[in-house]
Amino acid sequence: MSSFPDIRLRRMRRTGALRALVRETRLDLDDFVLPLFVGIETRRNEELPPLGRFSVDDLAGEVEEVVRLGVSAVLLFGVPDEKDDEGSGAYDTDGIVQQALRELRPRFPELVLMTDVCLCEYTAHGHCGRVEDGEVQNDATLDVLGRTAVSHAEAGADIVAPSDMMDGRVAALREALDEAGFEGTPIVSYAAKYASAFYGPFREAADSTPAFGDRRGYQMDPANVREALRECEQDVAEGADVLMIKPAMLNLDVIRAVREDFDLPVAAYNVSGEYAMLKAAAAKGWLDERQAAVESLTAIKRAGADFIVSYWAKELAGWL
Ligand code: PBG
Repeated sequence: MSSFPDIRLRRMRRTGALRALVRETRLDLDDFVLPLFVGIETRRNEELPPLGRFSVDDLAGEVEEVVRLGVSAVLLFGVPDEKDDEGSGAYDTDGIVQQALRELRPRFPELVLMTDVCLCEYTAHGHCGRVEDGEVQNDATLDVLGRTAVSHAEAGADIVAPSDMMDGRVAALREALDEAGFEGTPIVSYAAKYASAFYGPFREAADSTPAFGDRRGYQMDPANVREALRECEQDVAEGADVLMIKPAMLNLDVIRAVREDFDLPVAAYNVSGEYAMLKAAAAKGWLDERQAAVESLTAIKRAGADFIVSYWAKELAGWL
């Protein structure tokens, strides 16, 4: 009785209702975070809509719409007009993200407001840390990151998410937040963030392409998985509340490995290039976008992600 023809795995696949009974992984809108870009002026992106940017005023309108559709969490990125070497716009109390947070917080008390804590959108050189002698400095960057996180919490952020990949940043953020009285603000650490070619559309949207060199001196080598576990170990020791893997679709094995080794919630960032390649193929008529997106997002959850940052979150609200 242990093999064909007694066993027929197709029996439970015969109808949609039978398949639904035994489905192991489901997408739930509550597990999605929508990235949103806020800038001085609204700039629509016809081909990749979530990669456009909104002025603070227009952002509130967009958020109202996505909340109505059922999206429960957003991740804010700031695109300032002025940049300097230090990235001071990142921690300015009147910075673009801080303004957006103050606008959104009272209007959407239930919405999870997560912020990206990084300097690359704010520095003139486009790197994620302070630069001295052509090198991205680690320790000298930590203080600025801590100040940035505190300024976000003060303006109303529920969660801060550092994406710079400096060593020791989670501890630095935790200390700065606690000192400022935000011991209740969680840190979602981009623990394993790879130096990826798939951030292209994001950098275009956020205007954060490095002016020289690349990010391989701080982001991880895509060839490594054991190193990702060491990154996670460090971040757990420093007080991270959630571990994030990025990019998601390319690193399902890393998501699975982190899921198995750690009890913390695991997040995955379905990045702009992963989104754009399916969009482009769908625009050509080569793929069905909805099916391809749902299949990809299901794979990310099946690999072990508890929640997913995805540019599809708004469309998904209509699909689910
Ligand atoms: C900022 C940051 C990047 C992304 C998220 N935060 C770009 C980068 O590291 O160059 C990429 C997200 C995406 O591609 O969707 N450091």
